[in-house]
Amino acid sequence: MTTTTALGCQYRPQHHYTADRNWLNDPNGLVYANGTYHLFYQHNPSGTVWGNMSWGHATSADLLHWDEQPVAIACDEQEAIFSGSAVLDADNTSGFGTAENPPLVAIYTSAYSPASPLSGRQAQSLAYSTDDGATWTKHAGNPVADRGSADFRDPKVFWYDGGAGSYWVMVAVEATDREVVLYKSADLKAWEYLSTFGPANATGGVWECPDLFELPVDGAAGNTKWVLVVNLSPGGIAGGSGGQYFLGTFDGVAFVSDTTVTEGLQQDDSRMAEYGWLDWGRDYYAAVSFSNAPDGRRLMIGWMNNWQYGADTPTSGWRSALSLVREVTLATRGGRVVLVQGAVDPFENGGAATYSEAGRSLPAGTRWLPAEASGDVLRIDAEFEPGAAGKVGLLLRAGDTERTVLAYDSGTGVLSLDRTASGNTVFHESFASVERVAVPLEAGRLRLRIFLDRCSVEVFAQDGLTAITDQVFAAESSARVGLFADRDGARLVSLDIVAGA
Ligand code: FRU
Repeated sequence: MTTTTALGCQYRPQHHYTADRNWLNDPNGLVYANGTYHLFYQHNPSGTVWGNMSWGHATSADLLHWDEQPVAIACDEQEAIFSGSAVLDADNTSGFGTAENPPLVAIYTSAYSPASPLSGRQAQSLAYSTDDGATWTKHAGNPVADRGSADFRDPKVFWYDGGAGSYWVMVAVEATDREVVLYKSADLKAWEYLSTFGPANATGGVWECPDLFELPVDGAAGNTKWVLVVNLSPGGIAGGSGGQYFLGTFDGVAFVSDTTVTEGLQQDDSRMAEYGWLDWGRDYYAAVSFSNAPDGRRLMIGWMNNWQYGADTPTSGWRSALSLVREVTLATRGGRVVLVQGAVDPFENGGAATYSEAGRSLPAGTRWLPAEASGDVLRIDAEFEPGAAGKVGLLLRAGDTERTVLAYDSGTGVLSLDRTASGNTVFHESFASVERVAVPLEAGRLRLRIFLDRCSVEVFAQDGLTAITDQVFAAESSARVGLFADRDGARLVSLDIVAGA
């Protein structure tokens, strides 16, 4: 997408952000200002594994095409720059800019090195920019929030304007306690403790990268809920890193969850599927949302990787991509309010080639689609009516021996994404996997939107009710798409494929 060099072109995504060189993990500081979307990210400027954590930077006008910028905030001998957020301080509450030229302010975690007097601690610090994010200055009074803790990190800051007043709110974590801690501030520099949420629901790993925002339910402005996002690793629904969410209320002081199933650290694994999950795959982590996005849109990005094997993925010169940007909304589906997600579509302005089929029966067996419906960069929209068939689905990134299998089992109502034979899976023992999620048919039908890129599959089922994101490392030549059913009686209602872009 942004990449101009040929460095490590095998697996290099076309539509997903990667650093031109070297390691990337969490998206950081997502903020819109003056017509530009800023994406910062955890970055090792000098290696392809985690280390030297600094904020890399990229900018975009459309959330699809990103231009890599110089490293924004670099680590030094005293501190690594861990995850955090950024805001446009429009009223210059911090005093870092002027009324005419309000600053961008980054709130990041200082992870102090042995060379620092605060060695071993994690605390929250500020850096600001008065030139549209081109250069950043660390605040002289750092850190601005310090609990003397070794695991206080990942601050997400937003402007609260409600019954309790108007002020900045920070949500951060006490990671190993599985707690989200909330603070408030008038000027981003002095922070006052508000409340603590958790542990609750999934607690099988450390809690990281929280987010808190309000959304209308079914688009009705008068009926809103607050969404608390809590990433955790390990202990995600598919194994390793994952993101859960809670729905509830926030009164300016405390978040109260309506969706807590289990409380405390006594996680009941048999209830994992009842929790709210952002994604049921293995590769959507540290997801957080943009600040100040136009039109009240809530746009999120996740790290398309997993701490279980993130350092071992078989790319060269660069490592790890971010997910497509996802717009999230709240909707009532099946009598419950749930988070619904849709990717900002890289194919929206048409792709290189289009293939369509109208409704037809899907007899037992596998039918390979013609060459024009093949590719390693595709958007596939498919609607199935499983009918009397037990299993229906698609074979993706298929070659002679490789394939990724997206299957729906109408007996169990489970959608699965199987990457056990997807290509190179041997680089880590925990990579080969099958993700499973219950997805109810709607009027007997299953609608799928699938984005394939050179090393990933993102699936959105039932118009964004459920998402599954997995990396796959298939040979470039493994590009066929097939349809299958295990018994007669299924119907393919529609199929539309756009290739390239
Ligand atoms: C999440 C995380 C954060 C931390 C950052 C360090 O992936 O562990 O908690 O700030 O990565 O790179």
